[in-house]
Amino acid sequence: RNRLLSGIQPTADSFHLGNYLGAVRHWVSMQDDHDAFYCVVDLHAITVATDPTVLRDRTRRAAAQLLAVGLNPARCTLFVQSHVPEHTQLAWVLNCLTGFGEASRMTQFKDKSARHGADRASVGLFTYPVLQAADILLYRADAVPVGEDQRQHLELTRDLAQRFNREYGPAFTVPAPHIVGDTARILDLQDPTSKMSKSTSSPAGVVDLLEDVAKAAKKFRSAVTDTGREIAFDPAGKPGVSNLLTIYSALSGRPVAELVAAYEGRGYGDLKKDLGEVFAEVARPVQERFRGYLDDPAALDAVLAAGAAKARAVAAPTLADAYDRMGFLPST
Ligand code: TYM
Repeated sequence: RNRLLSGIQPTADSFHLGNYLGAVRHWVSMQDDHDAFYCVVDLHAITVATDPTVLRDRTRRAAAQLLAVGLNPARCTLFVQSHVPEHTQLAWVLNCLTGFGEASRMTQFKDKSARHGADRASVGLFTYPVLQAADILLYRADAVPVGEDQRQHLELTRDLAQRFNREYGPAFTVPAPHIVGDTARILDLQDPTSKMSKSTSSPAGVVDLLEDVAKAAKKFRSAVTDTGREIAFDPAGKPGVSNLLTIYSALSGRPVAELVAAYEGRGYGDLKKDLGEVFAEVARPVQERFRGYLDDPAALDAVLAAGAAKARAVAAPTLADAYDRMGFLPST
C-alpha cells in the first residue's frame, strides 16, 4: 500500500473550510486504501509566539476535529509531532543540506516574516519548511495530500530527498504532492482573490468547521459576489460565485455543472441561502462528535499516545539509517 503523510497546525480553535475541503476530507477518504500517517504539527505552531495553555488546548482540539470528521485510529496513524522526537532530529540534518538562499525563496516565509517584521520573525519560521520536509521523509511517504499553498514546500522536500540520496545513498522516498484541483484553493468569502486563511482573512471571510451554523449561514449570505446576476462557474471572471459553487459542490457531493443547471434563472441569494443549509448538514454531526471527543481528554490522549508509538516505529529506523549514512557513529 502507498504510504501517505500529512499534517495540520494547531494554530486556531477550529479548522476552516479551506483546511477541511482542501486537505482534511481527503485524509479521511484516503485512509482506507493507503498506509496513512496524519500529524498535528505542534512544533510548527510555535514558529510564531504561542501561549502554552492555548497550544495545549488547540492541539487536543485539532485531534478531536480529525476524529470527528472521520479519521479512524484503527485504520490510520494519528499522532502529535512533538511526541516523535525523530522529527526535530532529522530536521537538523536537513537544515545542514538546505541552502540559505533556497530557504529565503520560500514565499510563505517571505509573507509571514513581512507580516511579523524581520526582527520579530523567528529563525524557526525560517526553517519551518525544512521541519516539514523531515515530517514527510521520516515516513518515506509516497504522497502528501495538501492544498495548493503547500506546493512550494513539497518541491523543497523533493529536492532535499534527492540531494540526500545522491550524496549519501537512498535513505528517502521522493514524495509526490497530492493536490486535488477543484478545492485546492478555497477563497476568502469577502475577498475572493485571496485564499481563505486563518492568519490573514477577516472573520467574515472565513467559515470554521466548528462555527455556529446560523453564523455561518449569515457569512455565506453576505459573501462578496460578482456583478451580473447569472450563476455561472467562471473562476477568472466570477471568482466569488465560483468559490461558492466549489464549496457547495464539495460539501454536497453534487457536481458543479449540476448545480449551475439547478440554479439557472435564480439569483445569488437562493444559492447563498441553500449553501448555508448544506454547510449545516455537514457541520452539525461533526460538531456533535467533536464535543464528545473533547469531553474525554484522557481517551483522546490515549489515542494520540498509541499513534505516537506506531509513528515512532516507522520514524526511528529511517532516522537511524540516515544518521548511519551521514557518518554518525552508532551509540550502542
Ligand atoms: P496548515 O495547518 O496551514 O493547513 C492545513 C492544510 O489545509 C490546507 N489549506 C487550504 N486548502 C485549500 N484552500 C485553502 N484556503 C487552504 N488553507 C489551508 C493546507 O494546504 C494544508 O494542506 N505547512 C503545513 C503543515 C505541515 C505539513 C507537514 C503538511 C507541516 N508538516 C507535512 C503536509 C506534510 C501547513 O501550514 O498547513
